[in-house]
Amino acid sequence: MDQYESNETAHHPRRRNEMTRRQFLTYTLGGAGAFMAMGTVLPMIRFAVDPLLEKKEKGNWIKVVAESEIKTMEPAVFNFKIHQVDGWYVSDPEQSAWIMKDESGNIFALSPVCKHLGCTINWNTEKNNEYVCPCHGARYTVDGKNLVVAPAPLDEYEVDIRNGYVYLGEIVPNRRV
Ligand code: FES
Repeated sequence: MDQYESNETAHHPRRRNEMTRRQFLTYTLGGAGAFMAMGTVLPMIRFAVDPLLEKKEKGNWIKVVAESEIKTMEPAVFNFKIHQVDGWYVSDPEQSAWIMKDESGNIFALSPVCKHLGCTINWNTEKNNEYVCPCHGARYTVDGKNLVVAPAPLDEYEVDIRNGYVYLGEIVPNRRV
């Protein structure tokens, strides 16, 4: 105990829970130091994780093909690229869709990914007007209904027609079958 402190306690005897001057300075300087450190570190953390906090882009529509090229009850495959941003990873993977018009004139687009184990299906390879998967023989109707092997119908893309062009959106469960 230094002389000043002993004088102080001699005049004002310290109560049990009273804070010493040294403790007060330690807490105050420590708190201020921590606050300043947070001011420096937090922006760096925010910068590091920022891409992860951003919402993934949803609801993007891709212009794929002119409506006039779509045939009735005769699916054709069209390839297109989608722009993806996932955290720091930016990519433009190619996708494809089997697109056709039904007898009522509605355009729909099926995903080519087999619902068995994910191989790529093809249309009418066996001349039976069905989608067939080359891997284990799954077959689907023209609407994507699963006939054998596959446990579920082919997924479909959301479709929008704008100014004579077919736009495709998210892949969703098949609503036609
Ligand atoms: S992945 Fe298509 S039948 Fe198995």
